[in-house]
Parts: sequence; structure tokens; C-alpha cells
Amino acid sequence: MRVGVLCSGRGSNLQSLLDAAKANALGGAEIAVVVCNIAGAGAIDRAKTAGVAVEVVEHKGLDRAAFERALVERLRAHRVELVCLAGFMRIVGRGFLDAFPDRVLNIHPSLLPSFPGLHAQRQAIEAGSRFSGCTIHFVDAGTDSGPILSQAVVPVLPGDDEDALAARILVAEHRIYPEAVKLVASGKVHIEGRRVRVDGAARPDDAPRFHPPLS
Ligand code: GRF
Repeated sequence: MRVGVLCSGRGSNLQSLLDAAKANALGGAEIAVVVCNIAGAGAIDRAKTAGVAVEVVEHKGLDRAAFERALVERLRAHRVELVCLAGFMRIVGRGFLDAFPDRVLNIHPSLLPSFPGLHAQRQAIEAGSRFSGCTIHFVDAGTDSGPILSQAVVPVLPGDDEDALAARILVAEHRIYPEAVKLVASGKVHIEGRRVRVDGAARPDDAPRFHPPLS
């Protein structure tokens, strides 16, 4: 399964996917192209270092429809079958999603449906949550609202600020995104309305994974 990764920034999740691909840990998936909407983003260097094709599609000067058409055109040129949003800071709409039906994944740094949108870690701290985490979900036309494929849980510790919690969540992100891509590439993943079913799994995902509290 040819994967296109869309990034806007530093690309640490991209790196986890590149590392997994190199270690043959993505099952039948390979990273075919990295598409970035910000020239000079760290993700670009990461892709180049890994020897993966890079496309820069800047949103500046394009309306949403034209930007999405340009993205789709680049992804199709690389025969992409699965799209992974990894710190991609633009909302993708129907025009894009219809080109890759049920084949766009996103990672979000909270336990959705709690705390969608920006500053998810800050939202969790301000709400007084004892646990937060990250979610891999299929993308629909809403914001961080599509069917949930997998999640990992981390504690929110007393004294955490946004950066401390984000760093703890990021460790979990880097673990679950490659696992999720491998699962989708296995062909065992089916979307049934709001829910995701995985063939052979007793639950919609393997089991909730609790990150051990850090001392
Ligand atoms: C991650 O926290 C991801 O969950 C969110 O944006 C951040 C991207 O980080 N969507 P990186 O660019 O992958 O390092």
C-alpha cells in the first residue's frame, strides 16, 4: 500500500513512520511521498534524508479547492493509496476526501472525542483531566471527528505544563501511528458507521494501551 504523508512542521510523526518503514515494521505499507505545504518545514529534510520523494504544495495564494486539487494531483502522481496527516495544519474538505474515500488517517494529541482542535494538550490540562493521550482516526469532513482506529493513554501529572504533556503524548504518538498504518495495510480494518472494526480483534482496536506512569 503506497502511503503519502502530509506535514506542515517538524515532522516527528513522519520520522516515526520513516523509521518503521526502514525497519520493515509497516507490513505491506511503504512511504511513497511526503507532501508539505510549508517550504522549509523540518519534515522536508527528514524525508530527503530517508530518500523519500518530497512535494511542496504551498497553500498561499490558492483557495481551498485549488489547494486540495493540487494535493490530490501530487498524491496521485505518486500513486498514493493511503494518506496520513501528520501535523498537517490545514483542514481537508470533501474535495480531498472524495479522492481517497476512507483512506485518510490523522493523528491528534488527545483522547478524542475530548479536546478536538488546536491546543489539545492545553485543553486537557485546563479541564483537569487525569489522563490524556493520542488518537488515530479516519478523517471526515469535521474537525478531528472521524471514526477512531486506535488510541493510547498517558497520565496528566501534577505540575504538567503544555510542553511537558505534549512531550509525553508524543512518545505514544510515535508508537501508535506506525502500528495503525500497518493495520490498515493489512486489509483488516473496516469502517462501519462511526465505528472501526478490525478483523480478528476482540475490540475495535487491540486493547487500550496504558502508558505506565512516568516517575
Ligand atoms: C502532533 O502532536 C500531532 O498529534 C499533531 O501535530 C503534532 C505534529 O508533530 N496533529 P510532528 O510535526 O509530527 O512532530
